[in-house]
Formats: sequence, C-alpha cells, structure tokens
Amino acid sequence: MKSTILTLKKQKEEGNKITMLTAYDYSVAKLIDAAGIDIILVGDSLGMAMLGYEDTLPVTMEDMIHHTACVSRGAKDAFVIADMPFMSYQTSVYDAVYNAGRLIKEGHAQAIKLEGGASVCEQIKAITKTGIPVCAHVGMTPQSTNAFGGFKVQGKDIQKAKQIVEDALSVQEAGAFMVTLECIPEKLASFITEILDIPTIGIGAGNGCDGQVLVYQDMLGMFTDFKPKFVKYFANVGDAMTKAFESYRDEVKSGAYPAKEHTFKIDDEIMEDIYKEYR
Ligand code: KIV
Repeated sequence: MKSTILTLKKQKEEGNKITMLTAYDYSVAKLIDAAGIDIILVGDSLGMAMLGYEDTLPVTMEDMIHHTACVSRGAKDAFVIADMPFMSYQTSVYDAVYNAGRLIKEGHAQAIKLEGGASVCEQIKAITKTGIPVCAHVGMTPQSTNAFGGFKVQGKDIQKAKQIVEDALSVQEAGAFMVTLECIPEKLASFITEILDIPTIGIGAGNGCDGQVLVYQDMLGMFTDFKPKFVKYFANVGDAMTKAFESYRDEVKSGAYPAKEHTFKIDDEIMEDIYKEYR
C-alpha cells in the first residue's frame, strides 16, 4: 500500500514507528521500497554520500531533480520526499514555491523537505498553499554548518533548547506535515514529539521520535569517511563490495572470468567463413 501523509499521521497516532531511509538512484530505491520502508528521502546528503563534496552546500536544483526522478521511478509504495538544496528557498518565498514545484513536477516527489524553523515559516505556508506537503527540519540543520561551526549537536543549553522547541511548534503552525529532528538530545526530541500533532523523524535524536531516518550508505557501512555517534552499521556492505571488486580483479587477470557459462555461442560454419575471409 502506498504511504501518504494520511497513513504517516495515522502511524504517529497508533504508535507505529515510521521508517525512512535516503536513496539517490533507481536500483537502491527499488530495494528500499521492496523492504517495506515507509519513506524514501532524496536528501541533499547526496552532496557528500554520492558526489564527494565536504558538505551539502554545493548541491543544485538540477542535481536534486535528476536524482529524485531516478528514485521516484523505483519507489512503488514508499512516499518520496525531496530535499530543497541550499539557496533554493532561503532567497525568497517565490523561489521556494517555484523550486518546490519543480521537485514535484520534474522529480515526481510527493513532498519536499527544507531546513529551518521560524525563519522559513513564510516559505512553508506558501508551499503548502499550493498543495505540496512540506517536511520541516530543525535542530542541527546541515545547510547551516558554517553558522554552527561544524556538524555539532544542537540544543544542549537552555536558550538553544527553547529555540528548537519554538522552531518545531512554528513549522507545525505554518503547515508542515512532518518534522525531522537532527542531532539534538534525546529528552528534548521526546518532549517535542509529545507536544506536536505532526510526526517527528529523528536522526541522532534518540528513540522517542515517531520515526527514524538514516543515510543508506551510513547504515550499510559503505561511507566510512567518518562515523557519527548515532550511526549503526546494519551490514558491512562496504567490505563486501571491496571483496567482490578484488575477486573480479583477480579473476579477470587470471582468465577465470568470464567462464563458458557467461559467453554466447555461434555456429562453427559461420566462424569458418569468417576465418577464411579475414585470416
Ligand atoms: O540530506 C539528508 O539526507 C537529510 C537527512 C540526514 C535527514 O536531511
């Protein structure tokens, strides 16, 4: 059954945890969809996990549309959310609505996600008015890495903790259907989850959220440049891939691959004619 904003809201009401993973291409989206994950996020983590940038800031609208369209073709039941990249919505309400529309029309996402609290409420109101569901994102918002002085846990002092509570309440008020809580203390995230009507999705925010999200390369042990505290390796796919690449290298060099069963046949008479003419 296709996940929708209604089924996701019901999951919160029933205490049925929401599962979300990132994907950036068709084949991984298909695997995640087949595993029964509720939401696929085409995150701007694309910049680091797929494109090799140091942060998410260089990611463009064209990057996001291209990868969102690939994911949408592979997602049958999962609800697809596309991230709005840095400077595609902060600049004006017009830009926000226009670019959100492109992610839906050209990327075929069902919703968009943008970062920020009170400062982006005008954008959230305008986008939702057009009929596009908005997932907000508060706490450690990676597009503000320079303002935070790095990817650091947010909300540990009273002022910042209050600010995050206010941000979460204001994005709900502005019309967001869901909010991501990134890298904030577990008790703060649990409290926000308790006071909001909309579902919360945590990443580095503990177990009290309505759901969880991880970058798929992180949870598969494929991205090992660094390992945030909240990441758990559910498999060591990175090691398995390296071993497979090494076996391929060895078998090609030794001639063990391709074997007879991997090759196509031709009639001997045809080859005799070819030899006669060209040898
Ligand atoms: O870009 C992303 O993948 C995200 C998640 C980490 C929440 O925003």
